[in-house]
Amino acid sequence: MSLSGRVALITGASQGIGRSCALRLTKDGATVAVAARNQEKLNELVSEITAAGGKAYAFALDVSNEDQVKPTVKSAIAQFGKIDILVNNAGITRDQLVMRMKRADWDSVLQTNLTSAYLCIQQVIGSMLKQRWGRIINITSVFGQMGQAGQANYAASKAGLIGLTMAIAREVGSRNITCNAVAPGFIETAMTAGLGDEFKQNAAKQIPLGRVGSPEDVASAVAFLASDEASYITGHVLNVNGGMLMG
Ligand code: NAI
Repeated sequence: MSLSGRVALITGASQGIGRSCALRLTKDGATVAVAARNQEKLNELVSEITAAGGKAYAFALDVSNEDQVKPTVKSAIAQFGKIDILVNNAGITRDQLVMRMKRADWDSVLQTNLTSAYLCIQQVIGSMLKQRWGRIINITSVFGQMGQAGQANYAASKAGLIGLTMAIAREVGSRNITCNAVAPGFIETAMTAGLGDEFKQNAAKQIPLGRVGSPEDVASAVAFLASDEASYITGHVLNVNGGMLMG
């Protein structure tokens, strides 16, 4: 198992892509700290992973609350002795055309999607520097690469994550810590559930592979970037979009 002995912290792990990442990384041998607001869902996930022979522990965390990030990451490091892999996955949308977008919706999306990644990186980096090994994986989006009408806040947060990824990659590369982003396209999760069948069918027509993606498609990319196989890849944005955006 390629991640045997590794400890991963995944934010927003209670459902969707984060949940799939937790299932995949534990299957590959990692011990996973699953962090999200919904303790009940986290407990269910931990039971599922434990029943399958994996190791996972739940940490209640609202990543948009700066006061919670430090103590939560600290207690995870105290419990496991280290964090090897950080997956910044928690994310929200608050869609609206920019002329009607409320400042509160701008702020909450930037806080949850971008500022939280900076805060989590800041808390885990000491542990990674000490052991001279680390993997930071930020879940961005195709809309951070190409923009999307009605998503100025979301696209800005996801484009910001790409800049953050490259800056961190340069800052800590000499210490054997890689920092990469995964950019999913259209993935079937709660985030896209409300879009309607017609919208989804039309979207699938724009995707060369002819289908929307699954959370497992994204988890495979995350597992690869977390593994030793990806040790010479840093500052990279790995597209998992069925060909929706190329070049
Ligand atoms: P989702 O809505 O199912 O999952 C989002 C997760 O983030 C949930 O577990 C939620 O509880 C958590 N979360 C939200 N706010 C949080 C907070 N303040 N503190 C802690 N956890 C919080 O959506 P999905 O699709 O699984 O999204 C995961 C990531 O993938 C997000 O960053 C999203 O932007 C990104 N993404 C999703 C795409 C899609 O088509 N579904 C496409 C591109 C990127």
